[in-house]
Amino acid sequence: MPTVPVIPESAPFTPEQRAWLNGFVAGLLSRGPVNPIAQAAAAPARETLRPLTIIFGSQTGTAESLAKLAAKEAGKNGFAAIVMDMVKISPAKLAQEKNVLIITSTYGDGDPPDNAKALHAALHAPDAPRLTGLNYSVCGLGDTNYIQFCQCAKNFDAQLEKLGATRASARVDCDLDYEAKFATWLKAALAALGSTEATGATEAQSEISDLKSEISPPVAGSSRKNPFSAPLLCSRVLNATGSAKEVRHVEFSLEGSGLVYETGDALGVFPQNSPELVAELLTTLGCDGEEAVPVPNGTTTSLRHALTAHYDLGKPSPELVSRFAAPTSGGGAATATVVMHLIDVVLARPETRLAPVDFVRLLRPLQPRLYSISSSLRAHPGQVHLTVGAVRYEAHGRARHGVCSTFLADRCTPGTTVPVYVHSNKAFKLPADPSAPVIMVGPGTGIAPFRAFLQERRATGAKGKNWLLFGDQREGTDFLYRDELLAWQRDGHLARLDLAWSRDQAEKIYVQNRMIEQAAELYSWLEAGAYFYVCGDASRMAKDVDAALHKVVERAGGKSAADYIQSLQAAKRYARDVY
Ligand SMILES: Cc1cc2nc3c(=O)[nH]c(=O)nc-3n(C[C@H](O)[C@H](O)[C@H](O)COP(=O)(O)OP(=O)(O)OC[C@H]3O[C@@H](n4cnc5c(N)ncnc54)[C@H](O)[C@@H]3O)c2cc1C
Ligand SMILES: NC(=O)c1ccc[n+]([C@@H]2O[C@H](COP(=O)([O-])OP(=O)(O)OC[C@H]3O[C@@H](n4cnc5c(N)ncnc54)[C@H](OP(=O)(O)O)[C@@H]3O)[C@@H](O)[C@H]2O)c1
Ligand SMILES: Cc1cc2nc3c(=O)[nH]c(=O)nc-3n(C[C@H](O)[C@H](O)[C@H](O)COP(=O)(O)O)c2cc1C
Repeated sequence: MPTVPVIPESAPFTPEQRAWLNGFVAGLLSRGPVNPIAQAAAAPARETLRPLTIIFGSQTGTAESLAKLAAKEAGKNGFAAIVMDMVKISPAKLAQEKNVLIITSTYGDGDPPDNAKALHAALHAPDAPRLTGLNYSVCGLGDTNYIQFCQCAKNFDAQLEKLGATRASARVDCDLDYEAKFATWLKAALAALGSTEATGATEAQSEISDLKSEISPPVAGSSRKNPFSAPLLCSRVLNATGSAKEVRHVEFSLEGSGLVYETGDALGVFPQNSPELVAELLTTLGCDGEEAVPVPNGTTTSLRHALTAHYDLGKPSPELVSRFAAPTSGGGAATATVVMHLIDVVLARPETRLAPVDFVRLLRPLQPRLYSISSSLRAHPGQVHLTVGAVRYEAHGRARHGVCSTFLADRCTPGTTVPVYVHSNKAFKLPADPSAPVIMVGPGTGIAPFRAFLQERRATGAKGKNWLLFGDQREGTDFLYRDELLAWQRDGHLARLDLAWSRDQAEKIYVQNRMIEQAAELYSWLEAGAYFYVCGDASRMAKDVDAALHKVVERAGGKSAADYIQSLQAAKRYARDVY
């Protein structure tokens, strides 16, 4: 589209400023949202720049941050880049684009993140338009611990090609340590789309380093690469005696770290495996634990310490399963990876003797676990609180203990230091407008971020109304944070508190039943600008709550729920923190 000059010659600007302003206004008129960072970087002679739209699919904000960073880099390389939230892109809009970069994570079990669902579905629909004029490249963010690694990125990449778009450069799938791969992908994608800068290898490497340092700031605890050793302050069970659950309130001190978090963020916790499990494994392997072995960070340590702090003893890698498989087991290896833990596989073939260094080569690195932060720094300066459900169950005749939840429950006492880091979640934030109402649906441990939200809104004096829907098995034993919640209800900080006890009566009552009962009220809150938040179980609860929200809009609003809810998402008024 030609640039129409709208800033007159007589205006008090230098020619460069005028050119930039003309370009900026033209951009606003022709392209919708403009990214100011990219625009600033692209200041001179905008009309000579290549248009580039960088679209992010993101649940917790990583892809969004990388998209903004990519726009900044693109600005330095001859592009006029804008960043778009995928929820705001339709296939028709995509068909009008020339150059597009897609950066998307994957959630659930190979699913698109919430803000990517609509476009993902629309592009796979029979009436999806042809995208023959489009040049694109896709970067996937994912985690190789999931079977469907970067599936959402793979789907977009394949579907755009199927619809006639041209893949300008190859998709890159990034694991949790995404920095170097992302930077390499970006460099290649910009070059393929016509970057004006022919950057040499050395320069490219130093730019990648700059990019990496921008992605991972060096404050201890602000990234998983650089955790802070936080002393545990307390850990107490929130359930009463007789409960089937064990949910703990856990507090860490952040004193002296300089580490800050926002409500809605999660805390990454590096756990250790149980000493009993490590001892059993050492015995089965015929080792005394003192053998020197390499660990993923490149150093060497004793086998006992490596198995305790560095390697995952849960789900075995396919390589380990194959190595320990009976010669005649056929497809047994694949089955074992689904249902068995490492100890089961090793115990099944104790005669398979491997040198310790060869054994650890078959192990996956032990990963940190995320917990939604349940405190506000304003209410608890220098502290971070978590609400952790202990995972304990039996399988194949053996008691199983979730690594991190039972590490926190059984092996951490006041004073124990635990490596932690803040995992920011930009997509799960309180409204910027303190007068906006909020509706929070958080059964079970899903209460965590809402305790934080309520503390934050109390501390900041936010006047918007607060509505919490909470539930768990039994009122007598599972009313987590009962006293705090009832006190907030009494003094009006909680305008509404709706409770759903699933096992106090013959039929199940869940939070979504309360939503349906209160459909008219809930809809009137939404119409008054309320933000709707969901936290907790992803596999069942979050899906059912989403279906209930659709019903509420249809019944009480008498309108198409799909459009209404998509516009809530686009306005960031429907956010989920589900796991
Ligand atoms: C963004 C985010 C926020 C989170 N917030 C919280 C929070 O606030 N509070 C909280 O408690 N958790 C939270 N979690 C979950 C948490 O990260 C851990 O996944 C959880 O504590 C289990 O970790 P673990 O190491 O104890 O168990 P693991 O050793 O990882 O074992 C868990 C695995 O055990 C298996 N399993 C569990 N129960 C059974 C069963 N009954 N039968 C068979 N197999 C079973 C499943 O495969 C499960 O994946 C959050 C997760 C995410 C991603
Ligand atoms: N793998 C497992 O077996 C297992 C077991 C427990 C928890 N978890 C995981 O742990 C996390 C949170 O667990 P949690 O103990 O905090 O809470 P939770 O298990 O989600 O239970 C909290 C409350 O939600 C209810 N609930 C169950 N299904 C629901 C549905 N479809 N819709 C709405 N409410 C529903 C539960 O009722 P009822 O329990 O009475 O049905 C209970 O009252 C989740 O990720 C969950 O998947 C896993
Ligand atoms: C609950 C949950 C489910 C996930 N499922 C997958 C998955 O199926 N495949 C995958 O590759 N990554 C999966 N991931 C990893 C995320 O894609 C990865 O952490 C990504 O960096 C998040 O980026 P975002 O913050 O932009 O959403 C999952 C992460 C979480 C917390």
